[in-house]
Amino acid sequence: MPKLKLPVPPMPGRPAPKRPGKTYGPQTPREHGREAGTSAIGWIDERTSLSGGARWMMFRKVPKGTNWFYTLGSATMFAFLAQAVTGVFLAMYYDPSATGAYDSIRNINNEVFLGEFVHGMHKWGSSVMVILVFLHMGRTFFFGAYKYPRELNWVIGVVLLILTMTMSFTGYLLPFDQRSYWATIVGVNINGTGPFVGPYLSDFLRAGPDFGATTLSRFYAIHMMLVPGAIAALMGFHLYLVAKLGTTAPPWLRAKSPEKLREEKVAR
Ligand code: HEM
Repeated sequence: MPKLKLPVPPMPGRPAPKRPGKTYGPQTPREHGREAGTSAIGWIDERTSLSGGARWMMFRKVPKGTNWFYTLGSATMFAFLAQAVTGVFLAMYYDPSATGAYDSIRNINNEVFLGEFVHGMHKWGSSVMVILVFLHMGRTFFFGAYKYPRELNWVIGVVLLILTMTMSFTGYLLPFDQRSYWATIVGVNINGTGPFVGPYLSDFLRAGPDFGATTLSRFYAIHMMLVPGAIAALMGFHLYLVAKLGTTAPPWLRAKSPEKLREEKVAR
């Protein structure tokens, strides 16, 4: 008589099969509370399938030899996010008018709860972001990441660099003290000496032929809406290309010769 096959035992780690008559899932309010986060994410994912995109973005293969230098891009992004968060809190108390700007900054520093701390984070954070973006550019340059097929990502990076410098330049005027006022006049005049577009650019920055009350509003709008929006959009595209193309291997790693690869394949 042929032997009957034994049922396959449950795999270790797998949940036991459901038994009829027994209730499953969270029962008590405490259990419901514990699972609330997972259920909420599951609810959103069931309707958007966003987890597929997140997995595609985060669980990528990275080349051998990936090291700390590869964290400079993410560090720049973190610096930008910190600037965005502290900037929102500063905007709640800042007055972008020629008569009120200086006093509103004094108020932030002297009266507002944690105002000096947040203002300091924003001020020093801008230098941190500029240093990080240059280090990141240096890393991508020395690792040859500007070559095919990443040329477009390099060009987007150059635009991001210009936008980062624009953020520093436009932010410098906002305290509206003697130093920021005169330094910005110098900066705008230097812009005006540029070929062809220079005079138009300085007129645009001044919001007219003279440095006046509207100049501050112009700088404020550029600093907190126009440029951060452009940086956020370009950063998204920059990261999409990084995930799509993968990162460059460090230049000191040599590719294996085709024979060696074939040998390995045959051995396997
Ligand atoms: C706001 C500024 C920037 C942010 C937030 C940013 C962010 C990033 C991140 C997170 C990566 C992937 C990880 C890494 O390689 O570090 C990356 C890669 C890259 N970035 Fe940037 N980046 C910025 C500016 C720049 C600049 C100024 C350049 C060059 C002019 C540049 C060129 C590149 C290139 C070519 C890659 C691909 C690297 C590779 O394949 O190995 N980025 N960026």
